[in-house]
Amino acid sequence: MADIETAKLTFGDKVIDLPIMKPSVGPDVIDIRKLYAQGDVFTYDPGFTSTASCSSTITYIDGDKGELLYRGYPIEELADKSHFLECCYLLLYGELPSAAELEDFEARVTRHTMLHEQMQYFFRGFRRDAHPMAIMVGVVGAMSAFYHDSTDIGDPWQREVASIRMIAKMPTIAAWAFKYSIGQPFVYPKNSLDYSGNFLHMCFSVPAEDYVVDPILSRAMDRIMMLHADHEQNASTSTVRLASSSGANPFASIAAGIACLWGPAHGGANQACLEMLQEIGTVDRIPEYIARAKDKDDPFRLMGFGHRVYKNFDPRAKVMKQSADEVLGLLGIDNNETLKVAKELEKIALEDPYFVDKKLYPNVDFYSGIILEAMGFPTSMFTPIFALSRTVGWISQWKEMITDPEQRIGRPRQRYIGAPRREYTEIEDR
Ligand code: CMC
Repeated sequence: MADIETAKLTFGDKVIDLPIMKPSVGPDVIDIRKLYAQGDVFTYDPGFTSTASCSSTITYIDGDKGELLYRGYPIEELADKSHFLECCYLLLYGELPSAAELEDFEARVTRHTMLHEQMQYFFRGFRRDAHPMAIMVGVVGAMSAFYHDSTDIGDPWQREVASIRMIAKMPTIAAWAFKYSIGQPFVYPKNSLDYSGNFLHMCFSVPAEDYVVDPILSRAMDRIMMLHADHEQNASTSTVRLASSSGANPFASIAAGIACLWGPAHGGANQACLEMLQEIGTVDRIPEYIARAKDKDDPFRLMGFGHRVYKNFDPRAKVMKQSADEVLGLLGIDNNETLKVAKELEKIALEDPYFVDKKLYPNVDFYSGIILEAMGFPTSMFTPIFALSRTVGWISQWKEMITDPEQRIGRPRQRYIGAPRREYTEIEDR
Protein backbone atom coordinates (compact mmCIF):
# COMPACT_ATOMS: atom_id res chain seq x y z
CA MET A 1 0.00 0.00 0.00
CA ALA A 2 3.00 2.31 0.55
CA ASP A 3 3.25 3.24 -3.12
CA ILE A 4 -0.31 4.58 -3.18
CA GLU A 5 -0.24 8.36 -3.03
CA THR A 6 -2.46 9.74 -0.29
CA ALA A 7 -3.73 13.07 0.95
CA LYS A 8 -3.75 13.64 4.69
CA LEU A 9 -6.74 15.21 6.34
CA THR A 10 -6.07 16.45 9.86
CA PHE A 11 -8.83 17.68 12.17
CA GLY A 12 -9.12 17.50 15.95
CA ASP A 13 -6.93 14.62 17.03
CA LYS A 14 -7.60 12.65 13.85
CA VAL A 15 -5.33 12.16 10.86
CA ILE A 16 -6.94 10.34 7.95
CA ASP A 17 -5.11 9.12 4.88
CA LEU A 18 -7.20 9.50 1.75
CA PRO A 19 -6.06 7.71 -1.42
CA ILE A 20 -5.46 9.89 -4.48
CA MET A 21 -6.92 8.50 -7.69
CA LYS A 22 -5.16 9.34 -10.95
CA PRO A 23 -7.15 10.32 -14.04
CA SER A 24 -5.89 9.90 -17.62
CA VAL A 25 -6.13 13.69 -18.02
CA GLY A 26 -7.31 16.39 -15.61
CA PRO A 27 -7.05 16.96 -11.87
CA ASP A 28 -6.29 14.19 -9.37
CA VAL A 29 -9.24 12.92 -7.37
CA ILE A 30 -9.16 12.40 -3.61
CA ASP A 31 -11.10 9.28 -2.68
CA ILE A 32 -13.23 10.19 0.35
CA ARG A 33 -15.43 7.10 0.37
CA LYS A 34 -14.07 5.91 3.74
CA LEU A 35 -14.09 9.37 5.30
CA TYR A 36 -17.34 9.00 7.20
CA ALA A 37 -16.49 5.53 8.48
CA GLN A 38 -13.01 6.61 9.63
CA GLY A 39 -13.58 10.21 10.62
CA ASP A 40 -17.30 10.48 11.40
CA VAL A 41 -17.51 13.58 9.15
CA PHE A 42 -19.17 14.44 5.86
CA THR A 43 -17.88 16.78 3.17
CA TYR A 44 -19.98 19.78 2.13
CA ASP A 45 -20.27 20.62 -1.56
CA PRO A 46 -23.66 21.98 -2.67
CA GLY A 47 -23.80 22.03 -6.46
CA PHE A 48 -20.96 19.47 -6.54
CA THR A 49 -18.38 22.04 -7.63
CA SER A 50 -15.47 19.93 -6.32
CA THR A 51 -16.94 16.45 -6.35
CA ALA A 52 -16.31 13.69 -8.89
CA SER A 53 -19.40 11.47 -8.70
CA CYS A 54 -18.01 8.67 -10.88
CA SER A 55 -15.14 7.53 -13.08
CA SER A 56 -15.95 7.94 -16.76
CA THR A 57 -14.30 7.34 -20.12
CA ILE A 58 -16.79 9.24 -22.26
CA THR A 59 -16.33 13.01 -22.26
CA TYR A 60 -13.57 15.26 -21.00
CA ILE A 61 -13.82 19.02 -20.43
CA ASP A 62 -10.97 21.38 -19.58
CA GLY A 63 -12.83 24.51 -18.57
CA ASP A 64 -9.74 26.74 -18.43
CA LYS A 65 -8.51 25.71 -21.86
CA GLY A 66 -12.01 25.70 -23.34
CA GLU A 67 -11.55 22.09 -24.43
CA LEU A 68 -14.26 19.47 -25.00
CA LEU A 69 -13.35 15.92 -26.04
CA TYR A 70 -15.70 13.05 -26.92
CA ARG A 71 -13.75 9.83 -26.25
CA GLY A 72 -10.57 11.89 -26.75
CA TYR A 73 -11.58 13.60 -30.00
CA PRO A 74 -11.87 17.43 -29.94
CA ILE A 75 -15.36 18.73 -30.57
CA GLU A 76 -14.15 21.20 -33.22
CA GLU A 77 -12.68 18.35 -35.27
CA LEU A 78 -15.79 16.23 -34.93
CA ALA A 79 -18.02 19.18 -35.86
CA ASP A 80 -15.90 19.68 -38.95
CA LYS A 81 -15.35 16.08 -40.10
CA SER A 82 -17.92 13.85 -38.46
CA HIS A 83 -21.70 13.71 -38.29
CA PHE A 84 -24.23 13.10 -35.54
CA LEU A 85 -24.80 9.35 -35.94
CA GLU A 86 -21.07 8.69 -36.14
CA CYS A 87 -20.69 10.71 -32.89
CA CYS A 88 -23.48 8.62 -31.37
CA TYR A 89 -21.54 5.46 -32.21
CA LEU A 90 -18.37 6.97 -30.77
CA LEU A 91 -20.05 8.01 -27.53
CA LEU A 92 -21.92 4.73 -27.12
CA TYR A 93 -19.18 2.25 -28.01
CA GLY A 94 -15.96 4.20 -27.38
CA GLU A 95 -14.34 4.13 -30.85
CA LEU A 96 -15.02 5.63 -34.24
CA PRO A 97 -16.83 3.02 -36.37
CA SER A 98 -15.46 1.34 -39.47
CA ALA A 99 -17.54 1.93 -42.63
CA ALA A 100 -19.33 -1.42 -42.11
CA GLU A 101 -19.98 -0.75 -38.42
CA LEU A 102 -21.40 2.68 -39.23
CA GLU A 103 -23.64 1.28 -41.94
CA ASP A 104 -24.95 -1.36 -39.57
CA PHE A 105 -25.51 1.19 -36.78
CA GLU A 106 -27.32 3.62 -39.06
CA ALA A 107 -29.55 0.81 -40.30
CA ARG A 108 -30.39 -0.22 -36.74
CA VAL A 109 -31.26 3.34 -35.70
CA THR A 110 -33.23 4.00 -38.88
CA ARG A 111 -35.39 0.90 -38.39
CA HIS A 112 -36.52 2.10 -34.98
CA THR A 113 -37.65 5.62 -35.89
CA MET A 114 -41.39 4.90 -35.82
CA LEU A 115 -43.40 5.11 -32.61
CA HIS A 116 -45.89 2.50 -31.48
CA GLU A 117 -49.10 3.65 -33.18
CA GLN A 118 -50.91 3.69 -29.84
CA MET A 119 -48.57 6.43 -28.63
CA GLN A 120 -50.47 8.90 -30.83
CA TYR A 121 -53.29 8.81 -28.31
CA PHE A 122 -50.87 9.64 -25.57
CA PHE A 123 -49.89 12.81 -27.47
CA ARG A 124 -53.51 13.63 -28.15
CA GLY A 125 -54.28 13.59 -24.42
CA PHE A 126 -52.26 16.78 -23.91
CA ARG A 127 -53.67 20.29 -24.27
CA ARG A 128 -52.63 21.88 -27.55
CA ASP A 129 -50.82 24.64 -25.68
CA ALA A 130 -48.69 22.20 -23.66
CA HIS A 131 -44.98 22.99 -23.76
CA PRO A 132 -43.25 20.39 -25.98
CA MET A 133 -40.87 19.62 -23.10
CA ALA A 134 -43.88 18.70 -20.93
CA ILE A 135 -45.00 16.35 -23.70
CA MET A 136 -41.51 14.87 -24.01
CA VAL A 137 -41.17 14.21 -20.28
CA GLY A 138 -44.52 12.41 -20.37
CA VAL A 139 -44.09 10.50 -23.62
CA VAL A 140 -40.53 9.35 -22.91
CA GLY A 141 -41.55 8.18 -19.43
CA ALA A 142 -44.49 6.39 -21.04
CA MET A 143 -42.15 4.47 -23.36
CA SER A 144 -41.59 2.08 -20.44
CA ALA A 145 -45.26 1.16 -20.79
CA PHE A 146 -44.88 0.51 -24.55
CA TYR A 147 -41.54 -1.29 -24.87
CA HIS A 148 -41.64 -3.93 -22.13
CA ASP A 149 -39.03 -6.00 -23.91
CA SER A 150 -36.27 -3.45 -23.27
CA THR A 151 -36.70 -2.43 -19.64
CA ASP A 152 -34.64 -5.16 -17.94
CA ILE A 153 -31.45 -3.28 -17.11
CA GLY A 154 -29.66 -6.49 -16.12
CA ASP A 155 -29.85 -7.84 -19.68
CA PRO A 156 -27.17 -6.36 -22.01
CA TRP A 157 -29.29 -7.08 -25.09
CA GLN A 158 -32.28 -5.23 -23.69
CA ARG A 159 -30.03 -2.33 -22.73
CA GLU A 160 -28.76 -2.18 -26.31
CA VAL A 161 -32.29 -2.27 -27.77
CA ALA A 162 -33.47 0.45 -25.35
CA SER A 163 -30.49 2.62 -26.34
CA ILE A 164 -31.15 2.32 -30.06
CA ARG A 165 -34.85 2.89 -29.54
CA MET A 166 -34.32 6.10 -27.64
CA ILE A 167 -31.82 7.55 -30.12
CA ALA A 168 -34.11 6.59 -33.01
CA LYS A 169 -37.43 7.71 -31.57
CA MET A 170 -36.48 10.94 -29.83
CA PRO A 171 -36.61 13.06 -33.04
CA THR A 172 -40.03 11.59 -33.82
CA ILE A 173 -41.25 12.40 -30.31
CA ALA A 174 -39.88 15.97 -30.44
CA ALA A 175 -41.29 16.57 -33.94
CA TRP A 176 -44.71 15.20 -32.97
CA ALA A 177 -44.79 17.38 -29.84
CA PHE A 178 -44.21 20.33 -32.20
CA LYS A 179 -46.79 19.25 -34.77
CA TYR A 180 -49.35 18.68 -32.06
CA SER A 181 -48.80 22.17 -30.64
CA ILE A 182 -49.40 23.84 -34.00
CA GLY A 183 -52.40 21.71 -34.93
CA GLN A 184 -50.80 19.96 -37.90
CA PRO A 185 -50.93 16.21 -38.60
CA PHE A 186 -48.13 14.03 -37.29
CA VAL A 187 -45.58 13.29 -40.02
CA TYR A 188 -44.14 9.77 -40.05
CA PRO A 189 -40.37 9.34 -40.32
CA LYS A 190 -38.86 8.89 -43.76
CA ASN A 191 -36.02 6.43 -43.60
CA SER A 192 -34.45 7.50 -46.90
CA LEU A 193 -33.37 10.73 -45.16
CA ASP A 194 -30.46 11.09 -42.81
CA TYR A 195 -31.04 11.64 -39.08
CA SER A 196 -31.16 15.45 -39.05
CA GLY A 197 -32.89 15.70 -42.45
CA ASN A 198 -35.55 13.32 -41.22
CA PHE A 199 -36.11 15.45 -38.14
CA LEU A 200 -36.56 18.59 -40.26
CA HIS A 201 -38.92 16.64 -42.52
CA MET A 202 -41.06 15.52 -39.57
CA CYS A 203 -41.17 19.09 -38.25
CA PHE A 204 -41.76 21.06 -41.43
CA SER A 205 -43.41 18.91 -44.07
CA VAL A 206 -47.18 18.75 -44.44
CA PRO A 207 -49.21 16.17 -46.38
CA ALA A 208 -50.45 18.85 -48.80
CA GLU A 209 -47.02 19.76 -50.20
CA ASP A 210 -43.67 18.28 -51.07
CA TYR A 211 -40.91 19.25 -48.69
CA VAL A 212 -37.28 19.19 -49.76
CA VAL A 213 -34.71 19.29 -46.97
CA ASP A 214 -32.09 21.97 -47.57
CA PRO A 215 -28.66 20.30 -47.14
CA ILE A 216 -27.18 23.41 -45.47
CA LEU A 217 -29.98 23.44 -42.92
CA SER A 218 -29.74 19.72 -42.24
CA ARG A 219 -25.96 20.07 -41.83
CA ALA A 220 -26.52 22.93 -39.38
CA MET A 221 -29.06 20.84 -37.47
CA ASP A 222 -26.64 17.89 -37.46
CA ARG A 223 -23.97 20.18 -35.97
CA ILE A 224 -26.32 21.44 -33.27
CA MET A 225 -26.96 17.80 -32.39
CA MET A 226 -23.24 16.93 -32.33
CA LEU A 227 -22.36 19.93 -30.16
CA HIS A 228 -25.01 19.01 -27.60
CA ALA A 229 -24.48 15.24 -27.65
CA ASP A 230 -22.67 14.93 -24.32
CA HIS A 231 -21.14 17.13 -21.65
CA GLU A 232 -19.83 14.89 -18.87
CA GLN A 233 -21.57 15.04 -15.47
CA ASN A 234 -23.85 18.06 -16.06
CA ALA A 235 -27.12 18.44 -14.14
CA SER A 236 -29.35 16.37 -16.45
CA THR A 237 -26.75 13.62 -16.93
CA SER A 238 -26.21 13.40 -13.20
CA THR A 239 -30.00 13.22 -12.84
CA VAL A 240 -30.13 10.29 -15.27
CA ARG A 241 -27.33 8.54 -13.36
CA LEU A 242 -28.99 9.21 -10.00
CA ALA A 243 -32.43 8.10 -11.18
CA SER A 244 -31.09 4.90 -12.69
CA SER A 245 -28.76 4.18 -9.74
CA SER A 246 -31.85 2.81 -8.00
CA GLY A 247 -32.38 0.34 -10.84
CA ALA A 248 -35.11 2.40 -12.54
CA ASN A 249 -35.73 1.48 -16.17
CA PRO A 250 -33.93 3.50 -18.88
CA PHE A 251 -37.01 5.26 -20.27
CA ALA A 252 -38.02 6.52 -16.82
CA SER A 253 -34.44 7.61 -16.13
CA ILE A 254 -34.13 9.54 -19.41
CA ALA A 255 -37.51 11.19 -18.69
CA ALA A 256 -35.96 12.42 -15.42
CA GLY A 257 -33.03 13.82 -17.41
CA ILE A 258 -35.40 15.65 -19.75
CA ALA A 259 -37.20 17.18 -16.77
CA CYS A 260 -33.90 18.47 -15.38
CA LEU A 261 -32.75 19.79 -18.76
CA TRP A 262 -35.89 21.90 -19.02
CA GLY A 263 -34.69 24.41 -16.38
CA PRO A 264 -33.52 27.85 -17.59
CA ALA A 265 -30.10 27.46 -15.93
CA HIS A 266 -29.49 24.36 -18.10
CA GLY A 267 -31.09 23.37 -21.42
CA GLY A 268 -33.93 25.87 -21.04
CA ALA A 269 -31.37 28.66 -21.48
CA ASN A 270 -31.62 28.60 -25.29
CA GLN A 271 -35.32 29.45 -25.14
CA ALA A 272 -34.76 31.94 -22.32
CA CYS A 273 -31.90 33.54 -24.27
CA LEU A 274 -33.88 34.18 -27.44
CA GLU A 275 -36.83 35.45 -25.43
CA MET A 276 -34.45 37.80 -23.62
CA LEU A 277 -33.04 39.09 -26.94
CA GLN A 278 -36.58 39.70 -28.17
CA GLU A 279 -37.51 41.42 -24.93
CA ILE A 280 -34.49 43.72 -25.21
CA GLY A 281 -35.78 44.39 -28.71
CA THR A 282 -33.48 47.19 -29.83
CA VAL A 283 -29.79 47.88 -29.45
CA ASP A 284 -30.35 51.08 -27.45
CA ARG A 285 -31.95 49.08 -24.61
CA ILE A 286 -28.92 46.84 -24.06
CA PRO A 287 -27.26 49.04 -21.38
CA GLU A 288 -30.41 48.77 -19.24
CA TYR A 289 -30.21 44.94 -19.33
CA ILE A 290 -26.46 44.89 -18.72
CA ALA A 291 -27.06 47.07 -15.65
CA ARG A 292 -29.76 44.69 -14.43
CA ALA A 293 -27.47 41.68 -14.90
CA LYS A 294 -24.85 43.37 -12.71
CA ASP A 295 -27.30 44.44 -10.01
CA LYS A 296 -26.99 42.13 -7.01
CA ASP A 297 -30.57 42.93 -5.96
CA ASP A 298 -32.00 41.95 -9.35
CA PRO A 299 -32.32 38.20 -10.03
CA PHE A 300 -32.00 38.86 -13.78
CA ARG A 301 -29.08 37.14 -15.52
CA LEU A 302 -27.90 37.47 -19.07
CA MET A 303 -29.14 34.24 -20.56
CA GLY A 304 -26.63 32.48 -22.81
CA PHE A 305 -23.71 33.80 -20.75
CA GLY A 306 -21.59 31.97 -18.20
CA HIS A 307 -20.89 28.33 -17.57
CA ARG A 308 -20.10 26.27 -14.50
CA VAL A 309 -17.08 24.65 -16.13
CA TYR A 310 -15.91 26.84 -19.05
CA LYS A 311 -14.09 29.85 -17.70
CA ASN A 312 -12.40 31.12 -20.87
CA PHE A 313 -14.73 30.27 -23.69
CA ASP A 314 -17.20 27.56 -24.58
CA PRO A 315 -15.69 25.66 -27.55
CA ARG A 316 -19.19 24.72 -28.69
CA ALA A 317 -20.11 28.40 -28.89
CA LYS A 318 -17.28 29.02 -31.39
CA VAL A 319 -18.57 26.34 -33.77
CA MET A 320 -22.15 27.41 -33.22
CA LYS A 321 -21.33 31.01 -34.04
CA GLN A 322 -19.85 29.91 -37.37
CA SER A 323 -22.96 27.83 -38.09
CA ALA A 324 -25.17 30.81 -37.23
CA ASP A 325 -23.35 32.95 -39.78
CA GLU A 326 -23.74 30.23 -42.45
CA VAL A 327 -27.43 29.61 -41.82
CA LEU A 328 -28.40 33.26 -41.58
CA GLY A 329 -26.40 34.03 -44.72
CA LEU A 330 -28.15 31.21 -46.59
CA LEU A 331 -31.56 32.36 -45.48
CA GLY A 332 -30.71 35.99 -46.22
CA ILE A 333 -31.63 37.14 -42.71
CA ASP A 334 -28.24 38.24 -41.53
CA ASN A 335 -29.43 41.59 -40.25
CA ASN A 336 -32.71 41.23 -38.41
CA GLU A 337 -33.31 43.13 -35.16
CA THR A 338 -32.79 40.12 -32.83
CA LEU A 339 -29.51 39.35 -34.50
CA LYS A 340 -28.38 42.96 -34.22
CA VAL A 341 -29.20 42.88 -30.50
CA ALA A 342 -27.34 39.57 -30.09
CA LYS A 343 -24.21 40.82 -31.85
CA GLU A 344 -24.13 44.09 -29.93
CA LEU A 345 -24.85 42.38 -26.59
CA GLU A 346 -22.03 39.94 -27.20
CA LYS A 347 -19.63 42.79 -28.02
CA ILE A 348 -20.58 44.88 -24.99
CA ALA A 349 -20.51 41.95 -22.55
CA LEU A 350 -17.12 40.76 -23.80
CA GLU A 351 -15.65 44.20 -23.05
CA ASP A 352 -17.46 44.89 -19.78
CA PRO A 353 -15.22 44.41 -16.69
CA TYR A 354 -18.06 42.69 -14.75
CA PHE A 355 -18.31 39.92 -17.33
CA VAL A 356 -14.58 39.84 -18.07
CA ASP A 357 -13.61 39.55 -14.38
CA LYS A 358 -16.17 36.84 -13.69
CA LYS A 359 -15.15 35.04 -16.88
CA LEU A 360 -18.67 35.08 -18.28
CA TYR A 361 -18.57 34.31 -21.99
CA PRO A 362 -21.33 33.47 -24.44
CA ASN A 363 -22.15 29.78 -24.14
CA VAL A 364 -23.52 27.35 -26.73
CA ASP A 365 -27.08 28.48 -26.09
CA PHE A 366 -26.38 32.07 -27.01
CA TYR A 367 -26.04 31.12 -30.69
CA SER A 368 -28.12 27.95 -31.01
CA GLY A 369 -31.40 29.82 -30.45
CA ILE A 370 -30.56 32.28 -33.23
CA ILE A 371 -30.01 29.43 -35.71
CA LEU A 372 -33.10 27.53 -34.65
CA GLU A 373 -35.29 30.61 -34.92
CA ALA A 374 -33.94 31.29 -38.40
CA MET A 375 -34.81 27.70 -39.37
CA GLY A 376 -38.42 28.35 -38.40
CA PHE A 377 -38.61 26.76 -34.95
CA PRO A 378 -40.60 28.52 -32.22
CA THR A 379 -38.62 29.16 -29.02
CA SER A 380 -40.53 26.39 -27.23
CA MET A 381 -38.83 23.84 -29.51
CA PHE A 382 -35.28 24.87 -28.63
CA THR A 383 -35.01 22.81 -25.46
CA PRO A 384 -36.66 19.70 -27.02
CA ILE A 385 -33.96 19.84 -29.72
CA PHE A 386 -31.31 20.01 -27.00
CA ALA A 387 -33.01 17.01 -25.34
CA LEU A 388 -33.03 14.88 -28.46
CA SER A 389 -29.38 15.73 -29.08
CA ARG A 390 -28.34 14.95 -25.50
CA THR A 391 -30.18 11.62 -25.43
CA VAL A 392 -27.14 9.75 -26.74
CA GLY A 393 -25.00 11.28 -24.00
CA TRP A 394 -27.48 10.31 -21.30
CA ILE A 395 -27.66 6.77 -22.66
CA SER A 396 -23.90 6.37 -22.99
CA GLN A 397 -23.45 7.54 -19.40
CA TRP A 398 -26.27 5.29 -18.22
CA LYS A 399 -24.74 2.24 -19.96
CA GLU A 400 -21.35 3.04 -18.46
CA MET A 401 -22.88 3.33 -15.01
CA ILE A 402 -24.76 0.03 -15.21
CA THR A 403 -21.56 -1.88 -15.94
CA ASP A 404 -19.38 0.01 -13.44
CA PRO A 405 -18.49 -2.37 -10.57
CA GLU A 406 -18.15 0.63 -8.22
CA GLN A 407 -21.68 1.86 -8.92
CA ARG A 408 -23.97 2.13 -5.89
CA ILE A 409 -27.30 3.79 -5.37
CA GLY A 410 -26.74 7.55 -5.24
CA ARG A 411 -27.43 8.75 -1.74
CA PRO A 412 -25.92 12.11 -0.73
CA ARG A 413 -25.80 13.10 2.94
CA GLN A 414 -26.50 16.52 4.45
CA ARG A 415 -25.54 19.02 7.09
CA TYR A 416 -28.63 19.05 9.26
CA ILE A 417 -29.41 22.53 10.61
CA GLY A 418 -32.99 21.95 11.80
CA ALA A 419 -34.33 21.51 15.33
CA PRO A 420 -32.63 18.85 17.48
CA ARG A 421 -34.81 16.12 19.02
CA ARG A 422 -37.70 17.59 20.98
CA GLU A 423 -40.89 16.45 22.66
CA TYR A 424 -44.23 16.51 20.81
CA THR A 425 -46.45 19.34 22.09
CA GLU A 426 -50.13 18.59 22.46
CA ILE A 427 -52.32 20.86 20.29
CA GLU A 428 -53.95 22.63 23.23
CA ASP A 429 -50.49 23.51 24.61
CA ARG A 430 -49.16 25.15 21.38
N1 CMC B 1 -25.42 37.03 -15.96
C1 CMC B 1 -24.98 37.81 -14.94
N2 CMC B 1 -24.20 37.37 -13.93
C2 CMC B 1 -23.86 36.07 -13.95
C3 CMC B 1 -24.28 35.20 -14.98
C4 CMC B 1 -25.08 35.73 -16.02
N3 CMC B 1 -25.50 34.94 -17.00
N4 CMC B 1 -23.79 33.96 -14.74
C5 CMC B 1 -23.09 34.05 -13.62
N5 CMC B 1 -23.13 35.32 -13.13
C6 CMC B 1 -22.42 35.82 -11.94
C7 CMC B 1 -23.12 35.36 -10.67
O1 CMC B 1 -24.08 36.30 -10.22
C8 CMC B 1 -21.95 35.24 -9.72
O2 CMC B 1 -21.62 36.53 -9.27
P1 CMC B 1 -21.01 36.72 -7.77
O3 CMC B 1 -19.75 35.95 -7.73
O4 CMC B 1 -20.82 38.20 -7.68
O5 CMC B 1 -22.05 36.18 -6.84
C9 CMC B 1 -20.81 34.75 -10.60
O6 CMC B 1 -21.12 35.23 -11.92
C10 CMC B 1 -20.64 33.24 -10.62
O7 CMC B 1 -21.90 32.68 -10.95
P2 CMC B 1 -22.44 31.29 -10.37
O8 CMC B 1 -23.93 31.33 -10.31
O9 CMC B 1 -21.71 30.95 -9.10
O10 CMC B 1 -21.99 30.30 -11.48
P3 CMC B 1 -22.51 28.83 -11.65
O11 CMC B 1 -21.36 28.03 -12.11
O12 CMC B 1 -23.21 28.35 -10.43
O13 CMC B 1 -23.63 28.97 -12.77
C11 CMC B 1 -24.68 29.11 -14.88
C12 CMC B 1 -23.41 28.71 -14.11
C13 CMC B 1 -24.57 28.60 -16.32
C14 CMC B 1 -25.91 28.43 -14.22
C15 CMC B 1 -24.83 30.66 -14.84
O14 CMC B 1 -23.72 31.26 -15.47
C16 CMC B 1 -26.12 31.14 -15.50
O15 CMC B 1 -27.16 31.17 -14.83
N6 CMC B 1 -26.08 31.50 -16.83
C17 CMC B 1 -27.27 31.88 -17.56
C18 CMC B 1 -28.03 30.63 -17.97
C19 CMC B 1 -27.36 29.92 -19.14
O16 CMC B 1 -26.99 30.51 -20.14
N7 CMC B 1 -27.25 28.57 -18.99
C20 CMC B 1 -26.75 27.71 -20.07
C21 CMC B 1 -25.47 27.01 -19.73
S1 CMC B 1 -24.73 26.25 -21.18
C22 CMC B 1 -25.85 25.01 -21.61
C23 CMC B 1 -25.84 23.86 -20.66
O17 CMC B 1 -24.78 23.22 -20.48
O18 CMC B 1 -26.92 23.55 -20.14
